[in-house]
Amino acid sequence: MIEVRNLKKSFGANTVLNDVSVQMQPGKCNLIIGASGSGKTVFMKCLVGLLQPDSGEILYQGQDLTTMTTAEKKEIRKQIGMLFQGSALFDSQTVEKNIMFPLNMFSRDSYAVKLKRVNEALERVNLKDVNKKFPAELSGGMKKRVGIARAIVLNPQYLFCDEPNSGLDPMTSMVIDKLIMEITKEYNITTIVNTHDMNSVMEIGDHILYMHKGLKEWEGTNKEIIFSKNELLNEFIFASEFLKDAKDMRMLELSGKIANQRNMDDLMNNEGSTRQ
Ligand SMILES: Nc1ncnc2c1ncn2[C@@H]1O[C@H](COP(=O)(O)OP(=O)(O)O)[C@@H](O)[C@H]1O
Ligand SMILES: [Mg+2]
Repeated sequence: MIEVRNLKKSFGANTVLNDVSVQMQPGKCNLIIGASGSGKTVFMKCLVGLLQPDSGEILYQGQDLTTMTTAEKKEIRKQIGMLFQGSALFDSQTVEKNIMFPLNMFSRDSYAVKLKRVNEALERVNLKDVNKKFPAELSGGMKKRVGIARAIVLNPQYLFCDEPNSGLDPMTSMVIDKLIMEITKEYNITTIVNTHDMNSVMEIGDHILYMHKGLKEWEGTNKEIIFSKNELLNEFIFASEFLKDAKDMRMLELSGKIANQRNMDDLMNNEGSTRQ
C-alpha cells in the first residue's frame, strides 16, 4: 500500500504540489489525470524517490520513503517497476539486454535464471522472437511492451507508468492500457498511471485523481467521473478531442431526431455557403 500525506513540492516560486494526500489502491489502476504541466510527472518522481519533496510523507507499507536510508530506499526500489514516458530503452542494447538490466542491478541469479525471467516477461507482454532486436527495429507499441516487460521483470509490487500512450495510435493505446490493467489484476500490483488520455480514463480508471493547480481537485472512479458536477473536472474532460467529438455526435443524434428534412437541408445549405 502506498499512502501519500500532505505532499508539497516547489521549484523556486513555482508551487507544483501544494498539499496532496491520497491512498493508492492495491490491485488497481490508480490514474493521475490533469492538464499538461499540472505536476503529474513531478508527483510520480517524488513517489519513486527520483525527486525529494519539500515536505510530506510517502508511505510504503507504513514506511516513509522521504526519511529512509539509502539501503532502505534500495529495498523499495526493487519492488518498483517503472515505464518511463517514451519507453526510455537503451538504443544500443538488444531487447533482451534492456529487459535484463534491472535483474543485473538487483539480482544475483545466474545468467540462465535471468534469461528465463526475461523470456517470461516477454511472453507476458505477448512478444516473441524479438530478443536480439534493437529498439530502432520495433514499432511504437512494441517498444512500450518491451518497456513494460522491463518494468515487471523483477515481479514488482508497484508499477508506475508515465503517459504510457504518448505517441501511440488509439488502437495500440487501448492494447497497452488493457495489458497494464491485466498485469495489475493478475499480480495484484498497485499501479499508478499518469495520463491525459480520456480513453484510458474510461477503460482502466479504477481510481482516478484529478490534479489541478497543485491540488487533488477530484477523486473517484471512471463510473463516477461521468456524473461528476465538478466544474474544473468537466472542463478538463470536455477539453479532450475524443469527448468533444462524442458530445457533438450525441448532440447531432438528438437534433437529427427532432429536426425534419427541411431543417437538415437548410443546415447543409448554410454549411455550404459559409464554406465558400
Ligand atoms: N526539475 C524541474 N525544475 C524546475 N521546474 C520543474 C522541474 N520539473 C518540473 N518542473 C515544473 O513543474 C511543473 C509540473 O511539471 P510536470 O510534472 O512535468 O507536469 P505534467 O507531467 O503534469 O505535464 C511545470 O511547471 C514544470 O515546469
Ligand atoms: Mg508529464
